[in-house]
Amino acid sequence: MPFHGKNIILAISGGIAAYKSVELVSLFKKLGANVYCVLSESAENFVAPLSLEVMSKNKVYTKQDKHTIEANKAYIDHIELAKTADLILLAPATANTISKLACGISDDLIFDIILASQAPIAIAPAMNTNMWAHKVIQKNLSFLIDELNYHIIPPSTGDLACGVQGIGRLAELNDILKHSAYVLETQITKMDKDDIVGKSLDLANKNIIISSGGTREFIDPVRFIGNTSSGEMGFALAQEALYRGANVILVSTVDYEKDPIKAAILEHPNLVKLRANTSEEMRMAIEANFDDSVDVLIMSAAVADFRPKEYSDSKIKKEKNPDNSTINLELTENIDIVKHVAGNKLPHQVIIGFSLETENLLENASKKLIDKNLDMIVANNQEALGNYQSQISIIYPSTDKTQDLEIVELELQDKLENAKSILDHLNLILKARNEKNTDIISG
Ligand SMILES: Cc1cc2nc3c(=O)[nH]c(=O)nc-3n(C[C@H](O)[C@H](O)[C@H](O)COP(=O)(O)O)c2cc1C
Repeated sequence: MPFHGKNIILAISGGIAAYKSVELVSLFKKLGANVYCVLSESAENFVAPLSLEVMSKNKVYTKQDKHTIEANKAYIDHIELAKTADLILLAPATANTISKLACGISDDLIFDIILASQAPIAIAPAMNTNMWAHKVIQKNLSFLIDELNYHIIPPSTGDLACGVQGIGRLAELNDILKHSAYVLETQITKMDKDDIVGKSLDLANKNIIISSGGTREFIDPVRFIGNTSSGEMGFALAQEALYRGANVILVSTVDYEKDPIKAAILEHPNLVKLRANTSEEMRMAIEANFDDSVDVLIMSAAVADFRPKEYSDSKIKKEKNPDNSTINLELTENIDIVKHVAGNKLPHQVIIGFSLETENLLENASKKLIDKNLDMIVANNQEALGNYQSQISIIYPSTDKTQDLEIVELELQDKLENAKSILDHLNLILKARNEKNTDIISG
């Protein structure tokens, strides 16, 4: 194992995941490494130096040691630690520490050691999803990767301590060990940026409009024709697009605010939420925002095809129907929003429609893809409505031209997983389009 006899400096900054550092030290020790722990001032609030000292069997260094030189020592702590290190691992790395590193600020012992060392440096960030997606953090991470050749151990996705679900959890300890071993063995710190930042930020700066929920076509002030769409698919798409760095306008019939996790996501600085009830309100909200700057429209809302021809300003009374028999409701067709927008789209714009079919799912959806001039269609059946899971098929014109249509049939799974797949395929379309444009410009 590459750790045997190696000196690893474990720098710990002040995030909730700092408690995991005790187990990390134990794992390194079992694999034969000699571990020196250095805590930021704030990390001391999250993990006890004594636990780390017991586990590492070495003195634990804190901010207190920054300006002290023991009388009988002929060296300064941070220089000696910097020299002795075979690897410096910063785990967990807070947003604050990452940003200070990128600027060369050295107001804690951790920074003195890192700046003074020539050892390879691996960083395992852990933070709230919005902090991770924040442009300044991504910019600072890019700088650490590109300019300083630091090795980033990507955070994982899941439930975060702050109550949000998403990217930002400290990588699994086994993954941290694997990355550390890789860096020690190869001394190569630089990874393909796509593996770290790019994978999670592959929609950076893309402007995406997403519609969600089911429209309500009002008969009178209290009654409407509606459907059972929950708006879960649209929200999952918005959530995933935000995590990948997009700017999102979510046009929805649903108030997500009652769910505390969704309410937190709605606070994301790159999200604008617009409320629409009827198909007409949704159309107007989308068309008012669908300008040249928009890259993608995803119409996941269940929009009614028809609305009542007449709307009664007051509640329709039973007395109006004296013979107590049937009442006729005349319907008129709504404008097909996705078809209307796709008919006027610019070459760079990608329009994704959803198709709910009760029969001949793939055949009918593929026909709609062509008829409505869409770039992708997501086909699902009626069981998708109102459920947290759905079984979808993603259909779009093949990007490599090996066949006419790419048809990806996915198994029944959570809508968030479906959202990830849809955005992965959207990315293939965007990449192919980008390459085509580059060819045209250079050719
Ligand atoms: C309970 C709690 C948990 C926190 N968790 C994190 C975290 O996981 N990641 C992060 O970047 N900051 C987190 N913070 C904020 C940092 O503690 C704060 O930015 C601090 O100044 C970081 O100091 P350091 O980077 O010098 O260790 C948390 C704060 C609190 C109060």
